[in-house]
Amino acid sequence: MFMKISDVQLVSNAVMNMLHEEELELMNNFYDAVVAKDMLKIDELFAVVLYDIEDHFVIEEEMMEESKFYAMQMHKSEHDTMRQKIKKLHDEWKVHKEPEPIQSFLEEEFKHWITLHIARWDSETAMHLGDSM
Ligand SMILES: [Fe+2]
Ligand SMILES: [Fe+2]
Repeated sequence: MFMKISDVQLVSNAVMNMLHEEELELMNNFYDAVVAKDMLKIDELFAVVLYDIEDHFVIEEEMMEESKFYAMQMHKSEHDTMRQKIKKLHDEWKVHKEPEPIQSFLEEEFKHWITLHIARWDSETAMHLGDSM
């Protein structure tokens, strides 16, 4: 297993916790397909991953906007950096069909990024939002 839900911090907003739980479940399935070098499954799940990450980020950004979160731009710029990395990885995958760079990205970057991002930005945003949204 790539990540357990207990690897990431719970935040004080139920919607965000649900988004995180769903994303980790999907990333575990994606990771399994990558390690198994199952090309068809990687193709299929990569599309779902792109959709899911966008959905996760957009929902958080909309909540920040509605509640006028003071550090929205800093939080959003972390999302934008990850959006670019995932897009670049997907572009490379479409051309080369190599699972290894995806595996390295997940193990060496994504895992740490999502853990830190939730602990730093999502938890602070969630405290600002509370459970009101
Ligand atoms: Fe999040
Ligand atoms: Fe976030």
